[in-house]
Amino acid sequence: MFGFFALINWLDFGQIKKGGLFPDSNYRPSISQGKISYQSNCMKCHGKHLLGTDKGPSLLDDVYKSSHHADLSFYFAVKNGVKQHHWKFGDMPIITGLSPRRVSDIIAYVRYKQKLSKN
Ligand code: HEC
Repeated sequence: MFGFFALINWLDFGQIKKGGLFPDSNYRPSISQGKISYQSNCMKCHGKHLLGTDKGPSLLDDVYKSSHHADLSFYFAVKNGVKQHHWKFGDMPIITGLSPRRVSDIIAYVRYKQKLSKN
């Protein structure tokens, strides 16, 4: 049992404690893991299909395409929260408990959905 928790601790929280914003550069983000993390951390405001809710904007909106909002703004949004500025949904709170790897997975998932929605 201890071994199990030690492993979980090493896998995820080690990343957070280090305080780094980004995963190590050879980490290859996972779209499917990103979908899981998105659904448990972002979906209630940004919507099941990333199309937004009454609590947050659609991440498929043109302003969130990578030409306008670089990956950096996703890492910052999660770590520091976002003051209301583009919309009238209010502020986005700091999202805790996500390691840099999990955030990079979510970015890969969002970019993938953005590409699919391109018209
Ligand atoms: C409690 C609701 C809520 C949750 C949960 C939430 N967001 Fe947000 N998010 C918002 C709102 C509201 C805004 C828009 C703020 C504005 O620009 O007016 C926003 C904006 C953003 C932006 C744009 C940042 C910028 O620089 O303009 C990104 C990127 C983002 N969210 C990503 C995420 C990700 C990734 C998650 C999950 C890890 C998440 N959000 C979870 C409410 C939320």
